[in-house]
Amino acid sequence: MDLSKAKAKVEELTRLINDYNYQYYVLAQPQISDYDFDMLLEELISLEKQFPELLDKNSPSQRVGGQVTKKFSVVTHKYPMLSLGNTYSREELDEFDQRIRKSLHTDFDYVCELKFDGVAIGISYINGEMVRAVTRGDGVQGDDVTTNIKTIRSIPLKINHPDIPSEFEVRGEVYMPHSSFLQLNKEKQERGEILFANPRNAAAGSLKLQDSSITAKRNLDCFIYGILGDDLPHNNHFDNLQTLKKWGFKVSSFTRKYSSLADVFGFIEVCQRQRHELPYDIDGVVIKVNSYSDQEQLGYTSKFPRWAISYKFKAERVSTTLENVTYQVGRTGAITPVANLKPVQVAGSTVKRASLYNAGKMDELDLHAGDVVFVEKGGDIIPKVVGVDFSHRKTGAQKIEFISRCPECDTPLVKNEGEAIFYCPNSNHCPPQIRGKIEHFIDRRAMKIESLGQGRTELLIQTQRIKNIADLYDLKYNDIIGLEKTITDVENNTSRVISFREKTANNILKAIDDSRKMPFEKVLYALGIRHLGETMAKKLARHFKTIDALMAAQYEVLVGIHEVGEKLAQSIIDYFSDKENQQIISRLKAAGLQFELEQQAHTLTQALSGKTFVVSGVFSKYSRQEIKDLIEKHGGKISGSVSSKTSMLVAGDKMGPEKRKKADELNIPIIDEKELEEMIQ
Ligand code: IVH
Repeated sequence: MDLSKAKAKVEELTRLINDYNYQYYVLAQPQISDYDFDMLLEELISLEKQFPELLDKNSPSQRVGGQVTKKFSVVTHKYPMLSLGNTYSREELDEFDQRIRKSLHTDFDYVCELKFDGVAIGISYINGEMVRAVTRGDGVQGDDVTTNIKTIRSIPLKINHPDIPSEFEVRGEVYMPHSSFLQLNKEKQERGEILFANPRNAAAGSLKLQDSSITAKRNLDCFIYGILGDDLPHNNHFDNLQTLKKWGFKVSSFTRKYSSLADVFGFIEVCQRQRHELPYDIDGVVIKVNSYSDQEQLGYTSKFPRWAISYKFKAERVSTTLENVTYQVGRTGAITPVANLKPVQVAGSTVKRASLYNAGKMDELDLHAGDVVFVEKGGDIIPKVVGVDFSHRKTGAQKIEFISRCPECDTPLVKNEGEAIFYCPNSNHCPPQIRGKIEHFIDRRAMKIESLGQGRTELLIQTQRIKNIADLYDLKYNDIIGLEKTITDVENNTSRVISFREKTANNILKAIDDSRKMPFEKVLYALGIRHLGETMAKKLARHFKTIDALMAAQYEVLVGIHEVGEKLAQSIIDYFSDKENQQIISRLKAAGLQFELEQQAHTLTQALSGKTFVVSGVFSKYSRQEIKDLIEKHGGKISGSVSSKTSMLVAGDKMGPEKRKKADELNIPIIDEKELEEMIQ
């Protein structure tokens, strides 16, 4: 390819990837599969490698990180980064309102927003390009964390909009969504590392990482709540927020404009009620005067603006009696201590259990039998024991010591040097580990044998139909038909029957059969090797190409691969040197699973090449995303709306009437999933 062709291709890929990023991360409307997205990104990265002169500092390839910053440089903010005065009561908010009314004499509007519990950031743009992102620091100077901010996919690197000022700065809050936080701590626990106490600390820690490729994996996100500059589109905050949304920034949909304090109180109540359903932490509501000229008139105190205030929710802390400590055994054998409590109401729900994280944390709390403990559910998702009320400690109470044997199989526990976690080493025979391994194997992110699910897996294990993942592929219809079990949930006082009738049995056997086609990288991840996550499994699959090559790799070879640490290398060696694991792999090979990299994974055929499809409605055999993936794998293109360029509309149940009308008007053929299947066969 010559330079001019490459340049055009790089520009096209950049536009496409930025668009897909925006649709996925800002609008939460994915347009293509993760796999196809990765393929586009890989194509861009490989072109940029081939033609280094085409590498732009704001290319979407920079979002995967890679740049290592030894020390963040300190930058002076163009506009100081102030914080807000806090209130905790209606009275204080009333006083704030009175002060403003006294000062302004005229009617005005408030803008109410959520107070996100993360890390403040200021991001500057010049001519639509991100130039710098700086943390708050002391408000006057902060750290330049641009390379790490670029990994946050909801933050635009380039803005393609005609009306943007040549220079401006946006302000926002970087946060870690609950799902990312739980995943990160789970991985940390499996690796025996110290956990983050809450998503805010995790976000702050992730922004200060020296290696931006690690930040990229932390799945941070960012809400933008302000803009500063000389040439702003509107002279009020609310309209500017709407404009920021149009420019591609992620602005919270919980943003309202009100003219009365009563409405502001209404907003606070709604947020307080919905707070625990949000997928991220908030610790209050921010109330701002809307008009910039009013803001100017109100001015600032020595620390805060007089035109804004935060109404903070109180972290709810209660005390209750510790009944006992039990221990859970995870998929990889990691032992988690759990405090069982006398039931208590915290933040709108009854708490009976709270995590004690690990042996180290439990030791710090110095728990004794019969202690009264403080339990908190603040912004955090999991209730936690934060301390002991020593005034209630009974004299002579026994200290609660961490167990030394597995509570499930009685094997002596082990702890690796420098780790805070105890493990049960009996990985192939300890019941929860067997269950955990099989559940991990069938998971959506692994072999995707979803029709099996937890309850049914449990039933198969209890009835000794399966003892390990390889047994799944020996299951016959007659082995499972008629199996039945009632599962009672004591806590919710409910029960349900799990049974293998004809249809269920056939569905499960078909799903197991279909999983034989899962690509090597998924199979490798599904094996459940300790410390081996999805991304690394993909990387190792591409590096070694076959399981035999990976099994033959020496420790030195493994640690020589970029990003493979000592723990993972050792864990891979341990896994493959285990005789039982070797047998399982031979059986899985014999069952026809993919243990080699598929060369032509991307495109299966070109049957739909040159055609553009619009997919709408609900389908019976596939999900909408699967239909789209199928079309792309056979060379077709996907579009979101029907136009004269559409070749066909693939219609499911309940498709949008507008799409059908438009397709009829333009004489575009409408087909169903069966007809699509016929086209690609
Ligand atoms: S406005 C002068 N809006 O709260 C106005 N801040 O104590 C400055 N925060 O450091 C901030 N959500 O990190 C504003 N919707 C929101 C916010 C918000 C969270 C944080 C921000 C700031 C701190 C103020």
